[in-house]
Amino acid sequence: MCGIVGYIGREQAAPILLEGLSRLEYRGYDSAGVAVFDAGTNTLAVHKAKGRIQVLSDQLHGGADLNSTVGVGHTRWATHGAPSDVNSHPQVSRSGRIAVVHNGIIENYAELKSFLRTKGVPFRSETDTEVVAQLIEHFYEGDLLAAVGKALHRVRGAYALGILCADCPEQLIAVRKDSPLILGRGEGCNFIASDVTAILRHTRRVSYMEDGELAVLTRDGIRCYNHLMQPVEKAAVTIDWEIGAAEKDGYEHFMFKEIMEQPQALRRCLSPRIREGEVVFEDVSLSGDYIKNLRRVCVVACGSSYHVGMAGKYHLERLTRIPVEVALSSEFRYMDPIVDQNTLIIVISQSGETLDTLAALREARRLGGHILSIVNVVGSSIARESDQVLYTWAGPEIAVATTKAYTTQLALLSLLALWLGRRLGTVPDQDYRQMIAAFQELPDRMEEVLSRRDDIQYFASNYFNHGSIFFIGRGLDYALGLEGSLKLKEISYIHSEAYASGELKHGTISLIEDGTLVVALSTCGRLFAKAMSNVAEVKSRGANVLALTVESHREEMARTADAVMAIPELHELLLPCLGVVPLQLFAYYVALMRGCDIDKPRNLAKSVTVE
Ligand code: G6P
Repeated sequence: MCGIVGYIGREQAAPILLEGLSRLEYRGYDSAGVAVFDAGTNTLAVHKAKGRIQVLSDQLHGGADLNSTVGVGHTRWATHGAPSDVNSHPQVSRSGRIAVVHNGIIENYAELKSFLRTKGVPFRSETDTEVVAQLIEHFYEGDLLAAVGKALHRVRGAYALGILCADCPEQLIAVRKDSPLILGRGEGCNFIASDVTAILRHTRRVSYMEDGELAVLTRDGIRCYNHLMQPVEKAAVTIDWEIGAAEKDGYEHFMFKEIMEQPQALRRCLSPRIREGEVVFEDVSLSGDYIKNLRRVCVVACGSSYHVGMAGKYHLERLTRIPVEVALSSEFRYMDPIVDQNTLIIVISQSGETLDTLAALREARRLGGHILSIVNVVGSSIARESDQVLYTWAGPEIAVATTKAYTTQLALLSLLALWLGRRLGTVPDQDYRQMIAAFQELPDRMEEVLSRRDDIQYFASNYFNHGSIFFIGRGLDYALGLEGSLKLKEISYIHSEAYASGELKHGTISLIEDGTLVVALSTCGRLFAKAMSNVAEVKSRGANVLALTVESHREEMARTADAVMAIPELHELLLPCLGVVPLQLFAYYVALMRGCDIDKPRNLAKSVTVE
């Protein structure tokens, strides 16, 4: 959600900025812009365009039109003011000498705007960001850093900022509070970016900015300050993944590539953590006493990560017998949650930057909870602010609709449940062995599911024209349905709902009529007979039923359902990891047949960094 890239060096800035922005496209945006310092005229050249980066790039002939070695670029996901050229960033001050790119929300922008208006400052856009640019200029008396400091003192909200001033073309200023921003360290050049993908082509050495920090970048160095403007030393880390990991590699879409990468991602996530038949979490240190005294577990997350929590609740409760609550981060942070030192808070986030989840984490910590997070992006805010981190090691995920992050999160949460259960003595030896074997088999079984993708494509071709689709299931199959339904609506824009099958009769069944598509999920053997009854109920009201079950139940299911997708047998608790794959593929093929923009669905962002 909003992407920032900034460059100061000796090469032409505009092509670097445009290329960097294109790597941030996946975050979600509706317009783009760049500002560079033009040494010829001693002014800032600002270019912005609504729509895709390509529109801006075409206008600037790939950046060749701009002659400059310092600049900032931005992709905007509209919050204040509709997507338009004028509301796009960079936003400039009245004189045009200060340009600002921003990710986040300035909460008191209306108040600041009124204040500036009383000083005669005219506004062009409806954005909260313009207020920052104007405020800096208002305080500017020849010392840019001092003006930025004074402006930030007045600003409330969340922000990552890139600031450029025509009077100080030898520097670029970066500020971070509650929105991600990293510093990239090159040879004779330096960068700012919302995430590493934007600058990986130029440098692998990055420093993570902390909240309240400000950085001054020049060609030859970076100076950092804390919120009191005291200098701070920042360590640099080296990013070890290849740029290719964030490229399509010949696939038509990132989403498809990431679906196909899942077996490999699971191997990376699980293999180092299962050794000689035991779960080994070198990255977690929870004492035996702490675990024995645990009274509650609370899983906090948003979107698909929340669905992982919904499934993980079954694993955790079954294997540890500790009560588990699963909360949406956006609710948790305001619901006066009950948390104490005997509550383990499991925070799940692919990006590690989702603002509501970060805020929920902070609230839980304030109340004394111990925070263990499951995160994909190394060094992200949630990872850094947690007491313990389990990285999913799924590699960069670019498509907005998550796939490999979901399966690795779920597998890791299940493994954590098994590890906790083992230490609590609540998992009998034989069950433990069976589950370990199932974890080891999981990637291979997933390859099998993926190899049958043509069947799913065929089902998608039969059903892609439906206007409304219901997913039903019980227990883990209900949790799976939540994710299947979300995948479908995210990328195909088909209205879809997931229901616990038992709830159908309490209302939703009234919507079932001739031809309504119901995706009936029934992977859980114990509940198969119940699932069959629900299938019969919707069938007898005219529904078209596409069922998902395990191989051993395929035949029986096929007697009632119209079509059946089957997955291989595996330990019941790991079936959602397998079962989600046909649902991801179904959503993908349906969206493909409907001509949707699969990797960048409308209105959605990969990393939701505003509330
Ligand atoms: C966005 C993404 C979803 C993701 C959710 C939570 O909505 O599009 O795929 O599940 O954010 O993100 P997180 O990074 O915290 O897992």
